[in-house]
Amino acid sequence: MDHAVFTAVVADPAGLEDAMDAAGFTAYSLASRPGGGHDLTLYAAAAGLPEAVHRALRDLGIAVQGGALASTADLLRGHLPEDPIELAPGWWIDPCGRLGADHPGRILRVPPGTAFGDGHHPSTRMAARRLLELAARDGAAWAERRVLDLGCGSGVLGLVAALLGSGPVDLTDIDPEAVAAADALLTAHEVRGHRAVVADLLTGLPGQRYEVLIANLYADLVVEILADPRLTDLVPSGHLVLSGIASAKRAMIENALDRAGFTCLSSDEEAWWCCLVAERTRTAV
Ligand SMILES: C[S@@+](CC[C@H](N)C(=O)[O-])C[C@H]1O[C@@H](n2cnc3c(N)ncnc32)[C@H](O)[C@@H]1O
Repeated sequence: MDHAVFTAVVADPAGLEDAMDAAGFTAYSLASRPGGGHDLTLYAAAAGLPEAVHRALRDLGIAVQGGALASTADLLRGHLPEDPIELAPGWWIDPCGRLGADHPGRILRVPPGTAFGDGHHPSTRMAARRLLELAARDGAAWAERRVLDLGCGSGVLGLVAALLGSGPVDLTDIDPEAVAAADALLTAHEVRGHRAVVADLLTGLPGQRYEVLIANLYADLVVEILADPRLTDLVPSGHLVLSGIASAKRAMIENALDRAGFTCLSSDEEAWWCCLVAERTRTAV
């Protein structure tokens, strides 16, 4: 996804916050300059800053420059954690190759900053742990499970499923950069037969069937998936691993699961986030 980045030097930022609030714009940062004044950076969609923001800046006498396009990865570069992190028991993400060959863990090389899913968010770690449990529970049958990693980000959850020996893994995301990153990640780990495609929730997957659907998404999007009649054919039997759900919205998801024909088997909570595993036990009502 491309962003247009604008900058300005601001002598006195008084009134800026109120003006941006009034313009409904929050994507900016202000940093003190060593010699006095402030550096203002504004992040807009590729089409540029909204007219209301231009007007507010003009009223404050602030002249912005730039508008060059930068990708999400460009913007994140240099601000990213590079140390290894344990994703799930015995599974490590080592973004920069710092763990030696003698490390006893399973090491995943997820390049920093390509997309969400570097192991630092509890929602990713909880979902990875649940995948390990599902695969262990399924035993040899795991090899038959077709997996969809929906909202794949970096693709790390689909990668874990595949390295645990699942059947074919498909990965989808609404963000083409994430899809490219996920495709590259699974290819780099020599996963065979995966497909990575740009798709919005359940669109773009006609005729597909999965036994495992992983979705680390905001609760409202999960509710949309659960209410979508296409889910009946997409996952006619099997499991959902749902993460990224704010704990306060857990009951809403449990109700939606029930209506969609799924029974909640287990759940996990960490730092106000919740992960649920559910199994299809009947058809949707
Ligand atoms: C919280 S991240 C999860 C990334 C990764 N699966 C993980 O667990 O770390 C959510 C991902 O969902 C994607 N996403 C957001 N809205 C979507 C939609 N409507 N359809 C498909 N993907 C979407 C985002 O682009 C982002 O990559």
